Amino acid sequence: MDFVQGYVFHAADGFLRHLLEELPSATRIDGDLVSLWSKEEPRPFDLSARPVFWTRNTWLEPFLLEFNSISEAARALKSLQRNWSPTPTAFARRTLLIADQLPHFPSKPRAFPFEMPTAPMGAFTLLDEHLLLGSAKCTSPFPSGAFEFVENKDDPPSRAYRKLWEALEFAGKLPGPGERCLDAGASPGGWTWALASLGANVLSVDRAPLEPRIERMPNVTCMRHDAFTLKPEDIGPIDWLCSDVICYPEALWKWISKWLDSGLARNFICTIKMQGSVYDRDTVLRFASVPGSRVLHLWHNKHELTWIKLSP
Ligand SMILES: C[S@@+](CC[C@H](N)C(=O)[O-])C[C@H]1O[C@@H](n2cnc3c(N)ncnc32)[C@H](O)[C@@H]1O
Repeated sequence: MDFVQGYVFHAADGFLRHLLEELPSATRIDGDLVSLWSKEEPRPFDLSARPVFWTRNTWLEPFLLEFNSISEAARALKSLQRNWSPTPTAFARRTLLIADQLPHFPSKPRAFPFEMPTAPMGAFTLLDEHLLLGSAKCTSPFPSGAFEFVENKDDPPSRAYRKLWEALEFAGKLPGPGERCLDAGASPGGWTWALASLGANVLSVDRAPLEPRIERMPNVTCMRHDAFTLKPEDIGPIDWLCSDVICYPEALWKWISKWLDSGLARNFICTIKMQGSVYDRDTVLRFASVPGSRVLHLWHNKHELTWIKLSP
């Protein structure tokens, strides 16, 4: 087993093109895996200096493993740790045959909220019939960054609540009873339902109406308004600012900057939605540079990223 210097980035589903914009100096591409490693050079890439967002998982300690048989490859992986997720690329069948010889892990939908898994989840693919590329350490505790929630098909009026749930899982804390949340771009009310169901008091702002049954929830107040013309002082102190407004990333940044300057919001979860096919990386970098915050592509995100900032 030979460790190589660098990373392997697994592109967010459908957004390989954005990942390649972020990684113009990729050393190889295998399916949705974009490699930036070399056998000889020192680590060629400083992730903190040049952040990468359009990934579902990043392999942090890639290695190459030459092997003769499927069982030999499986044995070598098992000797490192229990959980390995296959990422089939060119030698898909053979990759899955190796996976068949590895311990299985539960992939049942998870009921929200759940404890984030703590066991490391490795990842591997085959570069040729006898050469495996793998990493025991990855950024996501889920296989290739993927997991499903046990869905509520009756109460929320849209499925958008799943990305708020996922963001809250990554945040590691929840809005609770008595906390005040602003939900901007709330219609038809999936996020408002999720926040109100946790016991928080929600002020839902949208130019469009909320689904009536969400508007009737006891801890929901609804305001038909352009969120961006509301100043922080108009709203007052809030525990959570949640935004799923469809807008240009720049418009969101302009509004969020006012909230940051005001100091009136403690926690933020905002979707930064790309417009058309464009990736506005400059604005995303502005969000990412806010101290104590991070930008992720969540498994439940589409052509958008999620910005999370939590009170210290
Ligand atoms: C993706 S939808 C939100 C879905 C919602 N989070 C849910 O869970 O059901 C985006 C919403 O942004 C709203 N929107 C767009 N521009 C807005 C603005 N300037 N102020 C308030 N709402 C806006 C749209 O009316 C739309 O309802």
